[in-house]
Amino acid sequence: MDEQERRWRDEFPITRDLVYLNNCSLTPLPISGRERIDRFAREWTELGGRAWYDHWIGEYQALREDLAVVLGATADEVAIEPNVSAGLVGIASTLDYAKRPKVVVSDLDFPTDGHAFLAVKDRGARVEFVRSPDRVRMPLELFERAIDERTAAVCTGHVYFTTGWIQDVRALAEICHRRGAVLVVDAYQSIGAFPFDVHSSGIDYLVGGTLKWLMGGPGIAFLYARREVAEHARPSAVGWWGVMDPFAFDVEHLAYGTGARRFEYGTPAVAAIYAARAGLALLAKVSIATVRERHMLLSQRLVDGAIAQGWTVRCPRAAAERSAIVTLEHPEPQRVVDALRAKGVICDMRPGLVRLSPHYFNTIEEMDRALELLAPLRAMAATA
Ligand SMILES: Cc1ncc(COP(=O)(O)O)c(C=O)c1O
Repeated sequence: MDEQERRWRDEFPITRDLVYLNNCSLTPLPISGRERIDRFAREWTELGGRAWYDHWIGEYQALREDLAVVLGATADEVAIEPNVSAGLVGIASTLDYAKRPKVVVSDLDFPTDGHAFLAVKDRGARVEFVRSPDRVRMPLELFERAIDERTAAVCTGHVYFTTGWIQDVRALAEICHRRGAVLVVDAYQSIGAFPFDVHSSGIDYLVGGTLKWLMGGPGIAFLYARREVAEHARPSAVGWWGVMDPFAFDVEHLAYGTGARRFEYGTPAVAAIYAARAGLALLAKVSIATVRERHMLLSQRLVDGAIAQGWTVRCPRAAAERSAIVTLEHPEPQRVVDALRAKGVICDMRPGLVRLSPHYFNTIEEMDRALELLAPLRAMAATA
């Protein structure tokens, strides 16, 4: 372990005791996050409701700015959401399904990407699922074939949560726009994992959150809306923080806030804002380019080692094609996860898959430790 790695790991006390490889689900709380949550608690204790005006509203606006930086957006294009699902519900509520009933989603997508649109069936939406031929990638040609002049939107992932494969969202945006459809991207698994500029991608809506690569914990998510799209959007899922002037307390009129703000709901989880800003600050210090370099290095070690042991990997083999998500096929993944956990290696499972996801603070030695423990577990599967 070199000096740089030691410094990175000092920020995450969990690394002293455990090999933590579940970062695409939830990164552990960094020390700076804990200090910020303590600060929030102190302000609440000492100031009560005055803390809103002295600190919390300012923190809320600052979070919006921080999120804009990481997305390559401007602050007015970013709405703060309680979670990705809420953001998608807001977007689904804006679309006119009368002339364009179709919404295209892939079978590799996270459940909420489909559910948000299945739920507006009574408003005329009809969800069509495109199916991944190799269960790893979602080829653009299949989207292209499914999108027609009756398609309102495509909603799909930037990085697929069970395979780590990176979708070419820029090319997909072009296909959507040629046919007059909007592109909604679930970027929960990509933002913070590799450099990305939302403006040059051309996409219309993006949702993501701070739980994973942004290291900011649960309770905060975000929605980017392209300016031209946001200006015309009239969400029916609304909240009083999303109106032009919340502090006018006007119950009789609904005047949408400018830009993406119209997608915001009610009182936010302030402790989560504090933790989220710490995660974003830490990421800025490390740099997303460094994160990407480390992800490629560490995840490749896992992929190569697992293949050498005879595992069937579900994620792409080439690091350039995927994020730091490494998935291994197994009939009883929970048994593998439990066996690793008993030896101090933390990972996760999805149906039929063991999922390991290193972050920049992990080390090559930890990848080798995980591989050493994985070796006999594959055989356990075969004879179970
Ligand atoms: C791709 C993706 N979308 C969405 C979510 C979760 O969304 P929400 O914020 O609604 O819990 C996750 C993970 O939890 C995810 O991996």
